[in-house]
Amino acid sequence: MLENGNLKTNIIKINIHCLETDKLKYAAEVLRNGGLVAFPTETVYGLGANALDETAVAGIFRAKGRPSDNPLIVHVSDSKDLDKLTSSKPEVTELLIKNFWPGPLTLVIPRSPTIPDIVTAGLDSVAVRMPSHPIARLLIKKAGIPVAAPSANSSGKPSPTCASHVIDDLDGKVDVIIDGGSVEVGLESTVLDITAPIPVILRPGGVTHEQLETVLGRVDICPSLKDSEAGVHIPKSPGMKYRHYAPKARIVLFEGNAEKVSNEISKIYRQNAHNGIKSVVLATDETINYYDGMDAVTMGSRKKPDIIASRLFNILREFDAQDIQVILAESIEDHGIGFAVMNRLVKASGYNVVKI
Ligand code: TXA
Ligand code: MG
Repeated sequence: MLENGNLKTNIIKINIHCLETDKLKYAAEVLRNGGLVAFPTETVYGLGANALDETAVAGIFRAKGRPSDNPLIVHVSDSKDLDKLTSSKPEVTELLIKNFWPGPLTLVIPRSPTIPDIVTAGLDSVAVRMPSHPIARLLIKKAGIPVAAPSANSSGKPSPTCASHVIDDLDGKVDVIIDGGSVEVGLESTVLDITAPIPVILRPGGVTHEQLETVLGRVDICPSLKDSEAGVHIPKSPGMKYRHYAPKARIVLFEGNAEKVSNEISKIYRQNAHNGIKSVVLATDETINYYDGMDAVTMGSRKKPDIIASRLFNILREFDAQDIQVILAESIEDHGIGFAVMNRLVKASGYNVVKI
């Protein structure tokens, strides 16, 4: 039935402030029985299946249209569950758990043979995370199994930050969608490889490089994340090689002095308008006034990159609903959570970055 995309999807609304255990019990049972359940986490919505059930996990790849060489994150509700999933625990594991779990940090650890190859794409490591969202935590706990869950979007689209995004992409393709409202972080978790002596960030996310270094000392950043050109380095995290987070419109990202960027964007916007090309400017609170008379949207204040992070994917999805052809996007400073915001924007642009 999944192949046809005509499954009857059960959409369940759950209030984060008063968790209805009956509804969660039902969703947990669907997971235990090999079904697919989309659920909110604090980062983005996830599409879950029993991580120990190969057939169930195959359903995730089908529903999302996800390439099979892109491994999944296994979600747990208790850090003790890590022992069953891993073959050895690097020394820093406990320290990281103590400081960042539950929360938006995914650890890449040597895997146990009990995890099906389909989850890890045959790698000898497994990515594990304990989400802090109460619905996610209770669902996984009630299911009593580790839950493999990528972001609950069609492959290549921006990750979902509310249930309607999930419904747009996956209605008719999954068994249950839990509507638990809007998420908090709005970007995915940080993926940290701790299999080598110096931990390496493979994907920037909800926990920042600076926060990790405060706890661990030196933490490296995967070289491919520092280049705004694709293909310079071989990605260590398989997911990094695919075009991601992309709305239908083409994105051009502009980097450099804010005033020069605004001038260049305005110039291109007017040229596009002259040629009948419908553009929108993705600006910030500090710069939005430059674009008088143009279609411009602010991501938020440059002083509050966490707010920009929480709104970015929703804004990109809203552009999909309009017939916009080109998004002319400003850059923000790439520290703190701004590093993750810029990573998503660079990828969404397909590495189409203009340096001014
Ligand atoms: O915030 C999140 O992490 C969300 C929520 C649902 O938890 N999940 C998520 O999953 O973003 P997904 O599948 O969209 O991204 C998982 C990332 C991919 O870039 C994948 O390549 C990487 O984690 N990954 C998974 N297992 C890995 C491994 N063993 N080694 C290296 N990278 C791995
Ligand atoms: Mg994803």
